Amino acid sequence: MSLPPGFLEELRARVSVTQVVGRKVSWDLKKSNQSKGDMWAPCPFHKEKTASFHVDDQKGFYYCFGCHAKGDAISFVKETENVNFIEAVEILAKEAGLQMPEQDPQAKEKSSYRDELFKIMDLSVRFYQRSLSSAKGVRAREYINSRKLTSKIIDEFELGFAPNSRTELFDYLLDKNIPEQQIIDTGMCLRPDDGGAVYDRFRDRIMYPIRDSRGRCIAFGGRAMSQNANAKYLNSPETKLFEKGRSLYNFSTARSALRTQSSLIVAEGYMDVIALSQASFKASVAPLGTAITKDQLALIWRISPSPVVALDGDRAGVNAAYRLIDLALPLIETGKTIKFALMPEGYDPDDLIKERGRDAMQNLVDEAISLADLLWRRETEGLSFDNPEARAALDKKLDQALSNIRDRQLKYHYQQHFKDLKWTAFIKKSGKNFSGSQNNANAGKAVKGSFIANSDKKNFISLKETVILAILVRYPSLIETNKEKLTTMEWNSKHHVLLLGEILNMGHLGYKDLMENLQNKFGDKALGKLFKQNHVNIIPCLGTKHDPQQAQSILSDEISKLEIQRGLDAELEEVVNSSDKELDETAFWRLGQASKVRQSTNNSEKDDHVNFEIAPNGVKLDREEKSQFDALLEEISQDTFNKSKNREN
Ligand code: UTP
Ligand code: MN
Repeated sequence: MSLPPGFLEELRARVSVTQVVGRKVSWDLKKSNQSKGDMWAPCPFHKEKTASFHVDDQKGFYYCFGCHAKGDAISFVKETENVNFIEAVEILAKEAGLQMPEQDPQAKEKSSYRDELFKIMDLSVRFYQRSLSSAKGVRAREYINSRKLTSKIIDEFELGFAPNSRTELFDYLLDKNIPEQQIIDTGMCLRPDDGGAVYDRFRDRIMYPIRDSRGRCIAFGGRAMSQNANAKYLNSPETKLFEKGRSLYNFSTARSALRTQSSLIVAEGYMDVIALSQASFKASVAPLGTAITKDQLALIWRISPSPVVALDGDRAGVNAAYRLIDLALPLIETGKTIKFALMPEGYDPDDLIKERGRDAMQNLVDEAISLADLLWRRETEGLSFDNPEARAALDKKLDQALSNIRDRQLKYHYQQHFKDLKWTAFIKKSGKNFSGSQNNANAGKAVKGSFIANSDKKNFISLKETVILAILVRYPSLIETNKEKLTTMEWNSKHHVLLLGEILNMGHLGYKDLMENLQNKFGDKALGKLFKQNHVNIIPCLGTKHDPQQAQSILSDEISKLEIQRGLDAELEEVVNSSDKELDETAFWRLGQASKVRQSTNNSEKDDHVNFEIAPNGVKLDREEKSQFDALLEEISQDTFNKSKNREN
């Protein structure tokens, strides 16, 4: 619908933004200056105790200094009433006594037809409520009492009773001069296919009105009271007002409750929502007789970034939660997830509150587990991972699940999380299972020993560090551009750190001056040694070939290899430090993984050699340079020297 020019300006001029906002916040009157229309309140869009939400009535704007929410009266209504732009304009125009412009005839007809249907729904709500309190409703009242609902909550949820009669509602509506077809279009009554007499859909049932995000009744759920009724619940069919996959029970109330309550609870059934609300968890919703849909998740995330799903603690409830994981994974983002409150076996939130009290529910909400942890549970529950096949299968399943996460950063963190979980879970579990096995302990020792012996980790690191330093000395122009990486990476050798410090201070110098300064500091011999290292002198750009580009690419490469090595070390350290008792197949598996990573870095090292095309006699520095560098490692990197010597032997 398009609005005529000037309409919005007129509307903005007529409404007071402080008045509109004032309905949803409590002003901090000390901080505010009412006469100037300069108002402050705790922000309605994020949780806070202080008043950082500022409204300027003159300018017609609000702005939150905490969460940066900002806008005008229209956007405020849009956000807080969860309506679209035009609906927000309508709401404000009505308040301001401003006539909405004429819509195009077709749209107008459609919306006024819906209005007619809403009226019928409203009439039905009242009809059922009256019938609940009438003589006909005795049994229904008894039933509701047996469910321990207070009259306050019965009123709040506008519970009603559909009398056990074929046409009582239909007759009532006809009596109000409502056309038959309209009644049928609401789904409240049906005309049989054979053209017989129209009859009421709901009979002898407790009635739960279902409202849309603007609080208008769009459908009903009807619960049978007797155990042997065909269906425990009968719901309204899909109509012009009701799309069950896009609606949630109690949504609009829950949305308002979230202003004072932190967690939105998503339960399975009507009764759960009602029981939760009675126990003061007002921010509760439920889907409508189907599993939660994508659209419903989107609706939920509009009002809560991290809702707590509390499904029944039976197999069906757990399976529903497991399926919800798959639905949610492609949709989650940082700040948009779901958590799960795991009900004890055989309980739904309604039972739990009744039998164990509201605190028991609160505890479950507080301890809700993350989507990642429930996924882990789904893939590991009841399985044993004491053999490589089982572990491989788990890896596959987790990888597959994670491949559905679209948010890359989040995916990375899920991967890290599972890495940790595997590590601790398997070690612990197998510790129990295998601690008695001497064979395993011995084998563990052997593996641990041999792996470490083969690793020449220190040497590897030291050489990489040397290459980096040598490149910097030869190409001082790279010092400045790589400064951040160089200072944030971890260095192993203190000598290298010392040298790096000097080099960083000399980034502005050319090669010759830099060399001279370093010589003065460390002496000729020391620097000479730097370039004599195995790994260093096979690199063309450090020899006769002046190639800053290659130098930069090797530099980046070496830094990233060091980073990989560090990650690997962290893993290894855990294995090395774990007691032999814990070293079982799981640890072997970890070692295997670690050694794979290691191999891949080694392979790329081989690639280096190929790329650099080593001349038979290596690449020479000119005489002068060589003598300048000759003794570096003797002085500043003795341990590197020893290591590389051992290695040559
Ligand atoms: P539950 O059987 O858990 O119902 O079904 P409940 O809400 O806890 O109700 P009580 O405690 O038995 O009275 C969960 C939801 O599944 C839908 C309803 O939306 C119900 O609230 N449902 C269930 C149906 O649509 N049809 C059914 O026959 C059963
Ligand atoms: Mn129940």
